[in-house]
Amino acid sequence: MLNSKRILLIIGGGIAAYKSLDLIRRLRERGAAVTPVLTRAAEEFVTPLSVSALAGEKVHRDLFDLTAEAEMGHIQLSRSADLVVVAPATADLMGKMAGGLANDLASTLLMATDTPVLLAPAMNVRMWEHPSTRRNRDLLAGDGIRFVGPNSGDMACGEYGPGRMSEPMEIVAAIDAALGNGPLAGKRILVTSGPTHEPIDPVRYIANRSSGAQGTAVAKALAAIGAHVVFVTGPASVPPPQGVEVVRVESAREMDAAVTAALPVDAGVFAAAVADWRVASASDRKLKKTRDGLPTLEFAENPDILKRISQMREGRPPLVIGFAAETDNVLEHATAKRARKGCDWIVANDVSPATGIMGGSENAVTLITAEGAEDWPRMGKDAVATRLACRIADVLSR
Ligand code: CTP
Repeated sequence: MLNSKRILLIIGGGIAAYKSLDLIRRLRERGAAVTPVLTRAAEEFVTPLSVSALAGEKVHRDLFDLTAEAEMGHIQLSRSADLVVVAPATADLMGKMAGGLANDLASTLLMATDTPVLLAPAMNVRMWEHPSTRRNRDLLAGDGIRFVGPNSGDMACGEYGPGRMSEPMEIVAAIDAALGNGPLAGKRILVTSGPTHEPIDPVRYIANRSSGAQGTAVAKALAAIGAHVVFVTGPASVPPPQGVEVVRVESAREMDAAVTAALPVDAGVFAAAVADWRVASASDRKLKKTRDGLPTLEFAENPDILKRISQMREGRPPLVIGFAAETDNVLEHATAKRARKGCDWIVANDVSPATGIMGGSENAVTLITAEGAEDWPRMGKDAVATRLACRIADVLSR
């Protein structure tokens, strides 16, 4: 059931738009509220009157509609939904999204939204297979946009192949999954990610090579199976996933405070590469070269966030997971780290330069729990994340 869920439905300009009328009915039957948006081209295929009659809501059509802006601005419109669904998603809309264009109401809403987005593409088979569409599809999937379809079959244009929009009930099933009616529905999970930057002065800082890719993948995988993810991220080089609550921080101390503010949680995954030290007295002015030689930097120890949370006496998350990035004696160091920090699991990996793991797209990890160590084969960081998310779901749903 989709009771009290709000769907912002963007209808693009393609012949499959007629199926979106049925989609609106199916969604409303399941208790969802549907706010429809029509592109100019969509109005050539379905009328605003039929869409609004079925949705029981006003149709939004114009970026510069003064009455609509006064009632509900387009930014608010883009954020008030639980899910944004684009059906049919045309090659043109996908291109605009991939290229960051915002020149009409639909594309502006898609850029301004911070809620998850699901696309149901529909287009001629040649258009779907065109290199630019494939490129855009990959870019959008990389940005965390979800897809349902297209299906293969006879198309309205008389050709055969992939490009048909998914059937309304398939789109409803994808909406269910995107809304996280999954095993972690109702669970709140904290994920830390990325490096931290420790200031030396207002223009310089100490950092590390973490890209944030693994933490981002974990957050995405947890959200995909229904978790509410609070994603506390340092200045990572990969963007945060869609559909998570993002808290951006710079330094270890800011991360520590953001983690405390995120509690209570059902589980914490500490994937950030937190700097162990900071410059003891960072200057509030840019350090200048002097004739007296090189400046000396004194270090102070940063709070160990994972250790502090693992050893909380009250309110400790039921499951605390740390990461251990090691360059030698991985198993030995990581096992000792699990005991020293007091966390439940450690995800250990070898980040020596020869492995290409730090900053790369693959990972080879060993999961260390109270029961022992489990070697996982080398796989993409997304696959590691999905496997970890399923393990977390196993424990939290017991
Ligand atoms: N971590 C943390 N806060 C810190 C340092 C680390 O929360 N100040 C977390 C990381 O997010 C990771 C785990 O602790 O989950 C392991 O970090 P690592 O730097 O490998 O641990 P250290 O205790 O600093 O061990 P080492 O001596 O290997 O640096």
